Amino acid sequence: MDQRISLINKLEEHHNLTKSEWVDLIAQRTPQLAEALFQRAAKVRQAHYGREVYIRGLIELTNYCKQDCLYCGIRRSNKEVNRYRLSDQEVLECCKEGYELGFRTFVLQGGEDPFYTDERLIPLIKKIRYLYPQCAITLSLGERSKESYQALYEAGADRYLLRHETANHEHYGKLHLDNLTAKSRQESLWQLKEIGYEVGSGFMVGSPYQTIENLAEDMLFLKELNPQMIGIGPFIPHHATPFHHQKPGGLELTLFMIGLLRLMLPKVLLPATTSLGTIAGDGREQGILAGANVVMPNLTPSIVRKNYLLYDDKIGTSDEALDSYKVAKEAIESIGYQVVVSRGNSLNVEICGKVT
Ligand code: 5AD
Repeated sequence: MDQRISLINKLEEHHNLTKSEWVDLIAQRTPQLAEALFQRAAKVRQAHYGREVYIRGLIELTNYCKQDCLYCGIRRSNKEVNRYRLSDQEVLECCKEGYELGFRTFVLQGGEDPFYTDERLIPLIKKIRYLYPQCAITLSLGERSKESYQALYEAGADRYLLRHETANHEHYGKLHLDNLTAKSRQESLWQLKEIGYEVGSGFMVGSPYQTIENLAEDMLFLKELNPQMIGIGPFIPHHATPFHHQKPGGLELTLFMIGLLRLMLPKVLLPATTSLGTIAGDGREQGILAGANVVMPNLTPSIVRKNYLLYDDKIGTSDEALDSYKVAKEAIESIGYQVVVSRGNSLNVEICGKVT
């Protein structure tokens, strides 16, 4: 126990560990150690962000996807999915409703849908930018070309979420088809940073074939990338994917990783994700207590929501925007935190381009 506590001390002081130290700490975790970690993580989060929790309004733009990631419910081979695309008008209605509820960040998330060319996205982004000059526009639309990232940034997008999924190249290959590589995913992340986006990355916890070494590699990669936001959540099998028989990722390990991330990158934005809320009723609350400080309620119109299923039993699929917001707000307040009406910028502003 003492040696593990001294690793946590080291992490708190130097914000970094070596690969073998990460492996030791993660492999030898115990409930008591997790408790000690969460206390420190809460203190660090409190020092930078107080008891404020930021909200992001999630708008699931399209569930068409040209990719075939083995874990994902909206992969192109899944013929059970009722595919949909939101019109610009529908997106703008989501923004309006979200704005009235207090959201100051809109996240346009979708599969890799070739329908959404730059020519189609640019006018939509410009419109949102014009109508909501004080809001952040976040894109989460998968891998695109550097030129496209640049053009969308110039149209008014400020942030881009693109999980690295796993830093280990071989492991990445076991989760994706050959056309997707860890190399190109990581290059995209560096390009996004270079352009000036506030960048979010992240990984699934307990994805098939993941080892503790892989998790250590994820920590090293994220330390180097130094993104503004890190989204992690447990892997949850989807019945119509090749990984339907695989074991889900654990709540306890996910929470432990959240605590470690808070100590490694004290100012990073850490969402308590929907997948965390799906594997445990109070998963998001536990995520906040472990060091997270963001939640992303869903603003997607309720009629299409049930079609955006990356994994089974996703929570909130029959809610209206207001319900998603209320549930998240109540959960946050029940543990003594507050939802704030703010863009919720990361304090982690070592950005190559503009600081927004
Ligand atoms: N379980 C958990 N998370 C998943 N994602 C995709 N499929 C699953 C799943 N079955 C995550 C990926 C992706 C993000 C949008 O959702 O990490 O980047």
